Amino acid sequence: MCGIVGYVGKARCVEVLMEGLRNLEYRGYDSAGLALQLGGRIETIKRPGRLDNLAEALEERNGHLSAAHTGVGHTRWATHGRPSEANAHPQLGNGGSVAVVHNGIIENFAELKEELKERGVTFSSETDTEVIAHLLAQRVEAGEPLREALASALRRLRGSFAVAAVSAKEPGKVVAARKQSPLVVGQGAGENYLASAVQALLKQTRRFLVVENGEIVELTGSSVGIFTLDGESVERESFEVEWEAEAIELGGYEDYMLKEIHDQPSALRNTLSGRVDSGGAVDLPEVDLAGVERIAVVGCGTAYHAGLLGKEAIERLARIPVEVAVSSEYRYAHLVGDEKTLVVAISQSGETTDTLAAIEAARAFGGRILAVTNTQGSLITREADAVLLTKAGPEIGVAATKTFLAQIAALYLLALGLARAKGATPEEELRELGRDLRRAPEKVEETLGLLEGRVEEAASLFEEARCALFLGRGSSYPVALEGALKLKEISYLPAEGYPAGEMKHGPIALVDEHSPVVAVLGQGLTREKSLSNVEETVARGASVISVARENDSAARRMSRVVLPVPEAPGILDPFVSSVPLQLLAYRVAKGRALDVDKPRNLAKSVTVE
Ligand code: M6R
Repeated sequence: MCGIVGYVGKARCVEVLMEGLRNLEYRGYDSAGLALQLGGRIETIKRPGRLDNLAEALEERNGHLSAAHTGVGHTRWATHGRPSEANAHPQLGNGGSVAVVHNGIIENFAELKEELKERGVTFSSETDTEVIAHLLAQRVEAGEPLREALASALRRLRGSFAVAAVSAKEPGKVVAARKQSPLVVGQGAGENYLASAVQALLKQTRRFLVVENGEIVELTGSSVGIFTLDGESVERESFEVEWEAEAIELGGYEDYMLKEIHDQPSALRNTLSGRVDSGGAVDLPEVDLAGVERIAVVGCGTAYHAGLLGKEAIERLARIPVEVAVSSEYRYAHLVGDEKTLVVAISQSGETTDTLAAIEAARAFGGRILAVTNTQGSLITREADAVLLTKAGPEIGVAATKTFLAQIAALYLLALGLARAKGATPEEELRELGRDLRRAPEKVEETLGLLEGRVEEAASLFEEARCALFLGRGSSYPVALEGALKLKEISYLPAEGYPAGEMKHGPIALVDEHSPVVAVLGQGLTREKSLSNVEETVARGASVISVARENDSAARRMSRVVLPVPEAPGILDPFVSSVPLQLLAYRVAKGRALDVDKPRNLAKSVTVE
C-alpha cells in the first residue's frame, strides 16, 4: 500500500516520477505528491485524490518544475490521517530542508512525535511519516551526510517502511531504505531510479537491483550504492525482468480489468508452457516434491480461494492432507507441522504482509516454503525456499482476475507433480489430466467467445438488488467465493459465497426478489445436488443466474439467465466457470458507473497488517 518512486539524472524528472506514479496508482489513490530539487531548494507539489489532480496542478505550474533532475514521488493509501493535502506525501522536515516519502507504518510514531514536540518541533500533518522527516532533518542540520542521517533516523523507528528522501543540501542525490515494505532500484544510463515495484519503471529500464531488509541505497545519476545501516558497502547482482513495457498499456480496452480478463488465455499459456508436455507429463524442476507428508496453503483474498482449489486437487490426486488458511489467521494460529510439511504461500504481488508473516510463522516449525507468485524479485521470492512463478504478466486492476486463473493452473501442476512423486494416482490418469490442463487456455478463450453480449442481461438483474448469493459445491464452491468477492470489491454490493448445500442452514433467509442467486453448477454429482439446492431458492422468489453448459435444460428451466460455459474436462471447470463471474461483476460495477480498476478503500498490494 502506497507507492514510492525516486529519480536522479536528467531534466525529465517530473515525467519519470509521474509515469512511475501512474503505474503504481493501484497501490493507493488517496493523494499524490512530488518533491523536487530546484535551485538549491526543495519544491513540493501535492494534491488529495487521484493522480490526475496532481497532473492538473503540475500543468498549472506551466513547466516551472520541469528543470528538476532529482526528486521523489508518492501515491497514498491512507493509514494515519485522512486523505488531505496536509497528509499527502512528501512530508517535510525542518521547514523543507528534507522531504520524505514513505510506504508502511511507523508503530512508535506517537511517542516519537511527543519527544519531537517537546524539543520544539511543529507538526503540520497527522501522518506517522512526518516524524521520519523531522528526525532526518535534525540529523542533516547537525551536519551528518544525508545517507548517515537516514541511518540514524531509521534506528529510532519501529514498524515497516520503504522510505526515500532528498535534501536541499545534497543536490543530485536520493537516499532510500527498506524494512519489510518493498523497494527496487532501476538502472539506466546516466540516470537511476527507485520504486516500490518494477512495473513503475518498465518504460525506463528492465534492469533492477533488489534492496534487502535493513539496507540503505544512495542514488546519483551515475552511481547506485547499497549499504548496511552501519555504512558498509554491499555488492548486489542486478536482474532483468521478463515483463515488457507494453504489458502495462490498456491496449485499446476501456479498463485494465476488462483487458486482464481477456488476457487470461495467454496468462494460462505462459504459466503452463514448459511445465506440462504434449503427452501430459508435468515437470516442475523448481520444486522439490519428495518427502512431502503434509501441506499448508496460505494466502489472502483471491489467493486464498485459489488455495482452496489447490487443496481439492492435491488431496484427490496426491492423497496428501492439505490445510488451507487465510494468512492473517495462520500467522497467529497454534500451528502443527514439521520439516515434512510443505507450506505453499500464494501471493500475486509477493508483498502481502500477512502472507510474509505466515511464512515466518511456518519457519518456526521447520516447514519448507514454496512461494506461488506472479512477481519476479518480490519479497516472497526471497523468503521462500522455492518459487513457482505464475506468468500472467503484470496485473494492474485491483480486482485479481488473470492471476487467479494462473494460480489455479500453478496449483494443479503442483497437484499433478505431487501425485506422481507419491505414486498416489495411476500414471496414465495423471497424464490424461495433464493433457486436459493444457487445454485451459483454449477453453477460456471459447468461454469468452460464448459470453459475448450475454452478460448484460444477467447484470440487469442486479439493478434493484440489495445483496447477492453465490452458490457452488465441490470445486465450484471456491469459484462461488471468488465470484462474490469480485462483485463486492468493485460494485460495493453485499455478496456472500456459500456452499449450495449449506444454504438451508441460515443464508436462505436472505432470499427474496431483491437478492439474485448466482449458481455455479459444474458437472456430474455436484451439478445435480446444486440444482436441487438452487430450486429451493427459486421457490422463495430468487432470480437465478446459472453458470452452466449451454445445453443444460435443467439450468435453463430454473434460471432467469444462463451464462454459458463450453463443454470441458472436469479439471477445467474452475477456469471456465470463473470467467462469467468476473464479467458479471465487471458489468454490474460499470452499470453503477464505478471505477472498476480502483475500487474505493482498496489497494492492490496490502503491505500493512
Ligand atoms: O498480492 P496478493 O495475492 O497477496 O493479494 C492478496 C489479496 O489482497 C488479493 O487477492 C485481493 O483479495 C484482491 N483485490 C482480490 O481481487
